[in-house]
Amino acid sequence: MGNVIQVLKPYFRVDEVLEEIRQCLEKGWTGIGFKTVDFEKQWSEYTGFAHSHFVNSATAGLHLAVKLLKKKHGWLNGDEIITPSLTFVSTNHAILYEGLTPRFCEVDKTLCLDPQAVRAAIGENTRAIMYVGLGGNAAHYRAMRGLADEFGLMLILDAAHMAGTRWLNSGEHVGLDADCTIFSFQAVKNCPSSDSGMICFRDEDLDREVRLQSWLGIDKSTYDRYTETTYKWRYDVTDLGYKYNGNAITAAIGLVSLKYLDEDNARRRQMAQKYEELLKNCADVTVIRHDPKISSSRHLIQILVEGRDQLMDWLATQGIYCGVHYIPNHRYGVYNKGTSELPVTDHVADRLISLPLHLWLSDDDVEHVASSVEAFFSRSGK
Ligand SMILES: Cc1ncc(COP(=O)(O)O)c(C=O)c1O
Repeated sequence: MGNVIQVLKPYFRVDEVLEEIRQCLEKGWTGIGFKTVDFEKQWSEYTGFAHSHFVNSATAGLHLAVKLLKKKHGWLNGDEIITPSLTFVSTNHAILYEGLTPRFCEVDKTLCLDPQAVRAAIGENTRAIMYVGLGGNAAHYRAMRGLADEFGLMLILDAAHMAGTRWLNSGEHVGLDADCTIFSFQAVKNCPSSDSGMICFRDEDLDREVRLQSWLGIDKSTYDRYTETTYKWRYDVTDLGYKYNGNAITAAIGLVSLKYLDEDNARRRQMAQKYEELLKNCADVTVIRHDPKISSSRHLIQILVEGRDQLMDWLATQGIYCGVHYIPNHRYGVYNKGTSELPVTDHVADRLISLPLHLWLSDDDVEHVASSVEAFFSRSGK
């Protein structure tokens, strides 16, 4: 394809990544252990999470978060987790995998869960709140922690978009006080590794257990056995676990992304701010603002417009490819298609666009996208 602008595109420091991968290949170690241990350690040092466990995706992490919290707290099938519909399906699949019920709740103009709607949705079967920091935002996160404390609920943070999102006043990473926080390092995320994730439990016992569950229920990893001198071959399988572990190659890629994460997020914020300034006088466009109390990872810049599909089609003719994050999950067959009582979610979902935001873009590209959006509306005579 010619000179097109994609909505998301990962940026890799290729030589540094290849050097990290070379170490795995030369050592003859590409599986669990070695770089995965290093990544877990460096992630904990960077974020301040006491426990970080590297898994093959945030989807796997979300599943294990729900599974282990269910087991520990004795939740029953059919118990509810309050969650947004406006998210990637992994968030809510994790709830269904464990026989629990996603209780879809409204977002507000921040596209994050609306605290008033959450309060109203809490009932006797509610066990947890699943908060999604859409695009790196943390709007109402503290209100969610407060509601979880008030009603004795668990707080799970789907931080798939939030690698590096911090509170401005303290510099602390958002989510340290959640019961479980899950990050994604999938291909187009802001800390890309090709495909992997990190699960950070607050509870040390659950951290121990998640290591077992993500490794088929085997009580010793291959790496532990490799580094042992005797009885290398002997282990027990205590649980029916999953093969959800991350591997050394994806960790090697992630380690390089982590090194540049703050720098990359700063560039993302700069581009997002530029979009905000350029579009502020365009009456047809509402830019979704992130919580001013945070320094956002700025995984996404999202706008709301009337005539969303026409705008996207026209931008595509100009070589500008935008995205939609997301189609609300309640519209999918597996989530009871058509039973929506989420007027705000439905309203925003039909108007939502993610503009291109990634490290391949120059300031001129951002100006070109913003002026193309404006040009569409002046062309259509609005
Ligand atoms: C909000 C959200 N949660 C979870 C996930 C799942 O992440 P992964 O692809 O690492 O499984 C994604 C990925 O797109 C996401 O956007």
